[in-house]
Order: sequence, then structure tokens, then C-alpha cells
Amino acid sequence: MAATRRAVLAGAGAGIAAGLLPGGALAQGSAQGSAQGNPAPLIRKPIPSSGEMIPVIGLGSARRYEEIRPGEDVTPLRDTFARLRALGGTVVDTAPSYGQAEAIMGGLMADLGIRQDLFVCTKVGVDSQEQGWAQIEQSFRNLRTDRIDLIAVHNLRDITNQLAILRELKQGGRIRYLGATTSFDRQYEAFEAMMRRETLDSIQIDYALDNRNAAERIIPLARERGMAVFINLPFGRGSVFRATQGKPLPDWAAEMDVTSWAQFMLKYLVSHEGVTCAVPGMAQARYVDDNLAAARGRMPDAAMRRRMEQFIDGL
Ligand SMILES: NC(=O)c1ccc[n+]([C@@H]2O[C@H](COP(=O)([O-])OP(=O)(O)OC[C@H]3O[C@@H](n4cnc5c(N)ncnc54)[C@H](OP(=O)(O)O)[C@@H]3O)[C@@H](O)[C@H]2O)c1
Repeated sequence: MAATRRAVLAGAGAGIAAGLLPGGALAQGSAQGSAQGNPAPLIRKPIPSSGEMIPVIGLGSARRYEEIRPGEDVTPLRDTFARLRALGGTVVDTAPSYGQAEAIMGGLMADLGIRQDLFVCTKVGVDSQEQGWAQIEQSFRNLRTDRIDLIAVHNLRDITNQLAILRELKQGGRIRYLGATTSFDRQYEAFEAMMRRETLDSIQIDYALDNRNAAERIIPLARERGMAVFINLPFGRGSVFRATQGKPLPDWAAEMDVTSWAQFMLKYLVSHEGVTCAVPGMAQARYVDDNLAAARGRMPDAAMRRRMEQFIDGL
């Protein structure tokens, strides 16, 4: 594996086993499932500013939803959303910049009648207050809802003005949480300064087993500042699958109830004590089955997380 984004994180695994979280901070599903044979409940973590518990795996809607052309059959996406809901998933992440993704998501939620069951996150990414208001009003229309759970400022764009809008919306009860996102290392310094300056409910940042820079400062700072942490690009847009293609899982993956590479990658991320929820891009129901299994069963402890890092770094 190329070492370009590989950070050697001394102590990155310290104290991060899910089982080490403070009492009540994590609702743990069992590996076995309920007595009725239904899948076990998903492991959830709290949003620090409210204590609200959300499942540690959600759904990202960039790329595959972005690529859909007007009139194209969205049945696979509908099945994906239906499966997410059936398995107890709630968090869905989108953005106005993802082509038709917001409107598709709005249509699917209305069609399936599941808006009220979901935790809907979108973003704002424009250059002035006037544009911000216009884009956000369009998001409400696209998503066919009068309340959006979380809006985050996309990639720090016009952050001060946009946060002012989000604060007003939150005060008026039209959104429940506000935040900011990035997925670029070159923005980390400015992002960190912004996190120290602003009061936010959440951040969203890129973090993957082969891209661990966010764990150095940003995620610990979020924890210190009481911000929920959503993870984007948890598979490095697929880089982790290319690196592990054709390779068997190590035997010890079974000790974490991991049966696929996707679960291996996701359990590493969500077992970090500062991480609240990872949002892998999912446009197939079978990926929902696979990825939500990472929100059940045993989680890696600190020693196991280090082993996972060494394993990936050695590929
Ligand atoms: N700055 C920001 O705010 C920002 C930036 C980037 C992303 N995001 C958010 O983060 C989300 C995730 O990022 P992403 O979708 O670009 O990348 P990603 O989650 O790292 O990778 C997504 C790709 O992984 C593959 N995949 C998903 N589940 C799989 C499974 N179980 N087995 C095998 N392959 C699987 C899918 O491939 P195929 O569909 O190709 O088969 C999918 O396209 C986005 O959807 C978006 O919501 C936010």
C-alpha cells in the first residue's frame, strides 16, 4: 500500500476500545441477535451536546446518488434506504453539491414514509448569507421536510456567515444540530482553529484505516470541545478495498465478530472513543447488510486497533 497518507500514530489506539467508554455512553448490541431471530440492535453513541443516541454507522450519498440521471430507475437506492431502515439505521448524509442526491433522498423518504425515522444531515456550501439562505431553503424543499436534523458548513466555505444562519435556524427549531465538515488535510489547520473558536454540535472529517491523520489532533479536540464526530470517506473512496482485494481476513478478525473487509475498516473507525458515526457511501442493499454489521457485536480494544493498523500498514 502506498505510504503517502499513512500516518504513524503513536498512541493512536490508546483508551479507545468501545468497552472502555464511560458508562452509558454507548449502547451495545449483542452479536447473537434478539430472541426472535431479528438482527441485534445497532450500537449507538451519544451526540455530546444533547445526549441523543445515534447508530455508529450511517449512509453517505455522494457519488452514486450524484450520478443518477433524471428519469433513471432508483429502485436499487430505494431498496438501500428500505434496508437501512429495516436494520435500524437512521443517519443519512447528503449535500446540495451532490447533484440530485438531496432530491433523490427526499423522494425516497417520502415514498417509503420514513422521514420521521431518519436522522437527516445535509450541508451548506456557498459564499454569502444570501446564497446560504437560498441554498438551505432549497435543501428543505429537496428533502421534502420542514425540519433537518443537522446542517454542516461544507469544507469551511464562508464559515462565519453560514454558521450565523445555522444558529438562527437552530434557534427557530428548523434544524436540530449544526456543524462543519472537511475532507482535506490542507484544511486541517484552519479547521482546528475554527473548532477552538466556534461552538458546534458536530464535525465531519475524513478518517480511514489507511488515512489516520484526523486522529492526531482533530478527533481528540472534538472530544475535548464536546462535538460529535461524523466520519466521511471511511473507505478512502474504496482505496482500502483495492489494498485488500483478494486477501483473506486475518483469523483474529473473528475475535471482533468481523466477517468482511468493510466491517474490519468500519469497526476500526467507530471503536475510536471520539468517533460518533461513520457514513460510508452506500447505494446497494447488500452493502447496508454488510456495513451495519459493523455496528453489532464485539469491538476492537486498544491493542487490537494497533494490530489492525500494523496489518494495513504492512500490506
Ligand atoms: N467534505 C465533506 O463533507 C465530505 C467529503 C466526502 C464525503 N462526504 C460524505 O461521506 C460519505 C462517504 O464518502 P464516499 O462515499 O465518497 O467514500 P467511501 O465511503 O470511503 O467509499 C464509498 C465506496 O465504498 C464502496 N462500498 C461501500 N460499502 C461497501 C461494502 N460493504 N463492500 C464493498 N464496497 C463497499 C462503494 O463502492 P461502489 O458503490 O463503487 O460499489 C462506495 O462507492 C459520502 O457519501 C458523503 O456523504 C463528505
